[in-house]
Amino acid sequence: MKIDGKTNVCGLIGNPVEHTLSPMIHNTLAGRLGHNLVYVPFPVEPGRVGEAVRGADALHLLGLNVTVPYKSDVIETLKEIDELARNIGAVNTLVRTEGGYKGYNTDMEGLYRAMSSEGIRIEGEQIVLLGAGGAARAVAYLCAVKGAERVYMLNRTFDKAQTVAEEVNRVVGREAILPMAMKDYTGLPEGKYLAIQGTSVGLAPHTEDVVIADDAFYEKIHTGFDLIYSPWETKFMRLVKGHGGHAYNGLKMLLYQGIIAYELWNDVQVSEEDAQVVYERLKEQFISKD
Ligand code: ATR
Repeated sequence: MKIDGKTNVCGLIGNPVEHTLSPMIHNTLAGRLGHNLVYVPFPVEPGRVGEAVRGADALHLLGLNVTVPYKSDVIETLKEIDELARNIGAVNTLVRTEGGYKGYNTDMEGLYRAMSSEGIRIEGEQIVLLGAGGAARAVAYLCAVKGAERVYMLNRTFDKAQTVAEEVNRVVGREAILPMAMKDYTGLPEGKYLAIQGTSVGLAPHTEDVVIADDAFYEKIHTGFDLIYSPWETKFMRLVKGHGGHAYNGLKMLLYQGIIAYELWNDVQVSEEDAQVVYERLKEQFISKD
């Protein structure tokens, strides 16, 4: 890696940031594409995200990713915000423009590209979405915008699902999201569903946990997509596969949210060949650990 007077700097702000895989994604892309760019993690203390963004602007950082816990807090520091990010209420990518940063949400476009790359459709689908937290809310919005026929949003706390469904339905102008209590999954209409697992249940080290364990539920699932990628194969995924469905983890979502951010910063299109090289490197991290 060559660092000189013209090196562009990008990075990640969040807390904690020590375990991030984003430097691997961006530095690999910069190397393959021959860009003079480095990507580094920046831990930001609570209450200091505004200072961090102003400092980054003053230092001409080309772009930043934003992670937990600042994806919402960062919004008030921006000069501009992309419509999708505004509607989701969360920003994970900042692009430097004249006079400040513009915020985007590449997590959701990343999920969409990850699904497309696996041949999974959202348009016209009947979808079961597990969860109603920050991640699931964004997925609900994505599914509604991309034309899902109906999204059954199942959450342990029904009120939260109801609030999210009302918000998303209002923004998209149709009854796309139907809230349900998690325990009422037996009431799902007959049919085959794409299921998206958007809760934190099953995340390492609690790898034997799953929100629904009943075989009857998995018989209705043709494809399962878990936003979790650690462990490599969650119990949810195992149950989907055990009933003949296809199952995917969230690593490609991580990959593509990074690739889309990289494309925004550098005004380039990353080829599928380069995406695949980065994916293989990311995968090695998990296969060796599991
Ligand atoms: P994130 O930003 O990752 O979405 P979050 O906003 O804290 O995190 O949301 C966590 C999600 O996981 C919620 O849907 C939560 O359900 P509740 O709204 O009922 O809390 C869900 N979740 C967490 N632990 C759970 C558990 N043990 N059983 C069922 N759902 C759980």
